[in-house]
Amino acid sequence: MTIEPTVKLNEEQIAFYHENGYLVLDAITTTEEIATMRQAYDRIFEEDAGRAEGNAFDLAGSNKEGQAATLPQILNPEKYAPELSNTLYRANAAVIARQLLGESATVGKGGHAIRKPPSIGAATPLHQDEAYWNEALEYNSLSIWLPLQDATVENGCMQFVPKSHRLGVVPHRSIGKGAAGLVVDESVTDIGELVPCPIPAGGATIHHSRTFHYAGPNTSSEVRRAYIIGASTEAKGRKTPRDFYWQEEMRRNREAAKV
Ligand code: NI
Repeated sequence: MTIEPTVKLNEEQIAFYHENGYLVLDAITTTEEIATMRQAYDRIFEEDAGRAEGNAFDLAGSNKEGQAATLPQILNPEKYAPELSNTLYRANAAVIARQLLGESATVGKGGHAIRKPPSIGAATPLHQDEAYWNEALEYNSLSIWLPLQDATVENGCMQFVPKSHRLGVVPHRSIGKGAAGLVVDESVTDIGELVPCPIPAGGATIHHSRTFHYAGPNTSSEVRRAYIIGASTEAKGRKTPRDFYWQEEMRRNREAAKV
C-alpha cells in the first residue's frame, strides 16, 4: 500500500534551510505512527538486532566488558523491522528531499537508530556527517532526524551550528578505542554557537551533510529514541580531492565498537 504524503515545505522553510543548513519541523508524522514505530524500535534493540552482521555499534565507546553501551546504534533498522520501511515518515521525507535537493532526490533504503539510555546515555559528539563518507565523492545530501518521544535539551535533542554547511569538511578524529564515532578535531576553533532544537514526538529536524551538529547526554529518566533517514541525489566524483585521513583510525576503532 502506498502511503500518501501529508507534508509540504513552504517557501520560508526552504529558504531557512538553504540559509542555515538545518530546519525544524513540528510534525512529519502522526502520534499514532510514532507509537507503532516505537514498538518496532524497542523490539530490535531488545533482540540485539544487527549484532551478527556488524550493524550494531556503540558510537560513544564506553562498552567495556559487562557494561551497557552508552550510545548504541543499529544500522539499517528496516532490515530487522520491515514495518519501518512503509511509513508516513518516509513518504513525507521523500517530498521534503525533492523540495530541498531537487526532483531526482530519493530517500535512502537504510536508516539508523540511535538509542540513548536514561542517565548513562552519552553525548553525540560534534561532527559533520560527511566526515564519515567517501572523500572522493561530491554529495547533495541531507539527514532527517525523528525522535520517537519528545526531544528536549535534557534528553539529547539535536543542536546545530547555523550556516556551518557552507564550510568544507573540517578535520575530525575518532573518539577513541571501542567507539565508532567521530568528533571535530580540537585544532578546529571558532566553530560558532550551537542552537538547541527541542521538538515534540512526531516532529523532525533536517540537516545538510556538512552542518555541524551535536546532541547532549540523556540526563532524563526516560530512553531517548532517534530514527534517522538520509536523502540524496546521485553522488558524483569530485574534481578536487579531499583527504579524510581520520577514517583509517575510525575503521580500526569501529571493529572494537561492535556490540
Ligand atoms: Ni550526524
